[in-house]
Amino acid sequence: MKVLITGAAGQIGGAIAREFEPCHRVIGLGQRELDITDHASVTRVVQSERPDVVINCAAYNDVEAAEDEALTALQVNAFAVGSLARAAREAGAALVHFSTDFVFDGETTRPYVETDPPNPRSVYAASKLLGDWFAAELPRAYVLRVESLFGPCGAKGGRKSSVDRIIAAIQAGAEARVFVDRVVSPSYAVDVAATTRALVERGVEGGLYHCVNSGFCTWLDLGLEIVRLLGAPCTLVPVRTADVPLRASRPRFSALSNAKLARVGLAMPSWQDALARCLAARVG
Ligand SMILES: NC(=O)c1ccc[n+]([C@@H]2O[C@H](COP(=O)([O-])OP(=O)(O)OC[C@H]3O[C@@H](n4cnc5c(N)ncnc54)[C@H](OP(=O)(O)O)[C@@H]3O)[C@@H](O)[C@H]2O)c1
Repeated sequence: MKVLITGAAGQIGGAIAREFEPCHRVIGLGQRELDITDHASVTRVVQSERPDVVINCAAYNDVEAAEDEALTALQVNAFAVGSLARAAREAGAALVHFSTDFVFDGETTRPYVETDPPNPRSVYAASKLLGDWFAAELPRAYVLRVESLFGPCGAKGGRKSSVDRIIAAIQAGAEARVFVDRVVSPSYAVDVAATTRALVERGVEGGLYHCVNSGFCTWLDLGLEIVRLLGAPCTLVPVRTADVPLRASRPRFSALSNAKLARVGLAMPSWQDALARCLAARVG
């Protein structure tokens, strides 16, 4: 299978490339090789490469800055996905696109399922939801919602995810501020990549899937599990959402149910299991 990855230098992009490379022909393009907002380049590259699947790992992910840069967020997270979906359709390729828990408002007490109505509360969230809709116009599109990504080795170019920052702080014996009132279903990039590959290879029916590790936790629970696994002194500082002024609204309860994936034979490991493997890979 020929696999074209956009945003290949990002956290998921790197994990996806490593997952597919052993058995497939991978063309991994970073932003410098292919700016997905350049419609003509997207069309030209997809037409000339004629991949079997396009995996879009590119995104504008700065949730706070998006409040001021709505147009850029929309261009990368929404309209560019429309270009990729059109190009994939014309080349007869499938499309994989990644979405977010932020499309929900978080005003619930049970994990969201794929049929729950979204209600984005920030510019970033609205731009991502539009991207989901553009991708879904393609029958062979997998829209995979992930959240609170971590791993595989803390390598994310120069940037680090929130989970990676907490791990690094605990390892350094430094304070790590963690929310006690935000609930998430963390996603290990390695597991997301393996599931993506299985979906594509098995030709599972396209559609929207919540692709997160099983279970959910507060950020404090997550921090405590890292402390336990590392056997490190606890340097966690519990904070409440109201104590941290943020411009963009975040969902308070954004656990996602991955039962739909389990129904197609792709049960995801628990977040605790994923965290243990991630930490073992770092020290090993
Ligand atoms: N990280 C999370 O916790 C999280 C949570 C929910 C959903 N997601 C979704 O998961 C997906 C992957 O996220 P990630 O954490 O792997 O993101 P990431 O590490 O920030 O990587 C995104 C990549 O996209 C590239 N990019 C930005 N604008 C581009 C453009 N116009 N053309 C081509 N490439 C461009 C970036 O390049 P530069 O580095 O050069 O800017 C970066 O390499 C995204 O769809 C994201 O919205 C992530």
